[in-house]
Amino acid sequence: MSGPNTNYDPVEVAVLRPEAVQAALSAAINDIAAASSLEDLKSVRIAHTGDRSPLALANREIAALPPAAKADAGKRVGQARASIADALHVRQQELTDARDAQILVDEVVDVTLPAQTGPRGARHPLSLLNDRVADIFVAMGWSVAEGPEAELEWLNFDALNMPAAHPARTMQDTFFIAPEGSGALLRTHTSPIQIREMLRREPPLYIVCPGRVFRTDEIDATHLPVFHQVEALAVDRGLSMAHLKGTLNAFASAMFGEGITTRLRPSYFPFTEPSAEVDLQCFVCRGASAAGGEPCRTCRNEGWIEWGGAGMVHPRVLQSCGVDPDVYTGFAFGMGLERTLMFRSDVRDLRDVIEGDLRFSAFFGGEI
Ligand code: DAH
Repeated sequence: MSGPNTNYDPVEVAVLRPEAVQAALSAAINDIAAASSLEDLKSVRIAHTGDRSPLALANREIAALPPAAKADAGKRVGQARASIADALHVRQQELTDARDAQILVDEVVDVTLPAQTGPRGARHPLSLLNDRVADIFVAMGWSVAEGPEAELEWLNFDALNMPAAHPARTMQDTFFIAPEGSGALLRTHTSPIQIREMLRREPPLYIVCPGRVFRTDEIDATHLPVFHQVEALAVDRGLSMAHLKGTLNAFASAMFGEGITTRLRPSYFPFTEPSAEVDLQCFVCRGASAAGGEPCRTCRNEGWIEWGGAGMVHPRVLQSCGVDPDVYTGFAFGMGLERTLMFRSDVRDLRDVIEGDLRFSAFFGGEI
């Protein structure tokens, strides 16, 4: 390429000939129309408008033309380039619209399809029962107390009026924590929570204590080495067996149905005096089976079901917790939750309770 030259004949510059410009334009228009994707169009754009495209090269030749020829050639090349730019713009828009429409088709979400949810879980029936017991007492104004599962021997036995040589200590088969003489064990009942609460707080005291307990039992249909109890303790001025009985009856009817009562049978526990076994009136036959009515599977025609232990807190227990037995009296009771679940929900084998088979929990659903 050289500077302006008055002798220069534009017809001699092949790329500026009208046919050449027209051919470059047609080739570009064809390629643009043939581009079937935005990717294609990008290459077409480079080929026909890039620095090395025929019309860009032609454009460069214009500068060297004599002034008279410049305008003519410039117009021709300029119009061709403008047409190509327009065509590119239009095709770009078409292809973009087509791509967007395709995305809408490809990524369509059918909101009417049924949702794929995982299987629903279920709370364990024992947890549900536990909560229900706590709710019943909380509704009466009591509070819930808990204690550690690894417990001090003194709290599990001594403070409950079972000193080292006391025969009652062997009534509960105990897991002791090594080394021998450590003074620690896995609690055999929830009664040490009574002691902890009496040591920690001043009467009046109304507490319900659910918890896991441990005994060296073999697993069978009615025994587990790890099971649950719920304990209740009230300490106040002037409490008597009548308050114990009233509380048990309120508990029984809240759990088993309006009007279901309890019965106390004389018994022995070192930490209560007097002590009693608590029987629950059969909530299925309400005693009718024992009076000659239809046979009842739940109470085996006894009319009553053994439920737990109870009594007036032994003065010596109050004393070991710094509570003056001349001022305060207390009542307490305790029962097994698994046992309660068994007769309340007709569970025949305790192994079902611990096996973790979801079908067992699911069967009880959200409510026992
Ligand atoms: N702790 C007793 C047991 O595990 C149950 C019990 C009996 C608890 C009498 C009490 C009670 O609070 O007064 O066998």
